[in-house]
Amino acid sequence: MQVEPGEKDKSLYPKHIAIIMDGNGRWAQQRHLPRIMGHPSGVKAVKRVVRFCAEQEIQVLTLFAFSSENWRRPKEEVSKLMGLFMLTMQKEVKSLNNNNIRLRFIGERANFSEKIQQKMAKSEQLTENNTGLTLVIAANYGGHRDITLALRSIAEQVKAGIIEPDEIDETMIADALSVPDLPDPDLFIRSGGEKRISNFLLWQLAYTEFYFTPELWPDFKAETMQAAIDDFLTRERRFGRTSEQVQSMSN
Ligand code: IPE
Ligand code: IPE
Ligand code: MG
Repeated sequence: MQVEPGEKDKSLYPKHIAIIMDGNGRWAQQRHLPRIMGHPSGVKAVKRVVRFCAEQEIQVLTLFAFSSENWRRPKEEVSKLMGLFMLTMQKEVKSLNNNNIRLRFIGERANFSEKIQQKMAKSEQLTENNTGLTLVIAANYGGHRDITLALRSIAEQVKAGIIEPDEIDETMIADALSVPDLPDPDLFIRSGGEKRISNFLLWQLAYTEFYFTPELWPDFKAETMQAAIDDFLTRERRFGRTSEQVQSMSN
């Protein structure tokens, strides 16, 4: 496709963007509100970012909504987050579907209420044939747990005599993790100023480009996303090679 002067070449855009949406609590506290009041504003930011990614024809957007460690938070906050999760699905899934967005969830579902689990399954079924943006919500997700469960399923295959231990390779492990059919993230973004992975997609982020912004999640805008993408476009992804090798490959 022809790229007009001054226009961005979307073929170079990240295909998969993964985001740790952090800073809801501090955003509320800055306004002298209880922490939990930040989460509904965080949902508004989610809607802006999903719209942006759909418009920009990004293939996959993975959002860290609730980590396997977030159960450690005060009971009241966990319960508000569960309520908001359910409410947001009830309000938004129809419009995601109308916009050709496919919704998927990663993380362990058994810890959620029966009602939430049913809504998750129904939302996935409703949107499964959509061909636009794939929106992956990481809920009760932990990178260690993802790898642990993958290794367990491989161990079962060894035990059953289906594979030999020396047949286990990187592809087999990757295939046993959540959503093996999706490409690894090209761009990782974390809002809220912390510079850590917090047990997000540990395996899948091996060669991802990282972008950190001090902006708190409820303030996150389409412009912030564009700034992260513009920064990504300046990076040279070498995957272990030298810069000269990479340049001669792209010529
Ligand atoms: C992220 O914002 C949302 C969730 C983890 C559910 P936080 O609630 O972690 O906000 P801060 O980091 O305390 O400001
Ligand atoms: C990471 O944020 C998880 C989510 C955004 C869902 P946290 O706020 O839980 O991370 P830590 O505890 O500061 O590392
Ligand atoms: Mg936080």
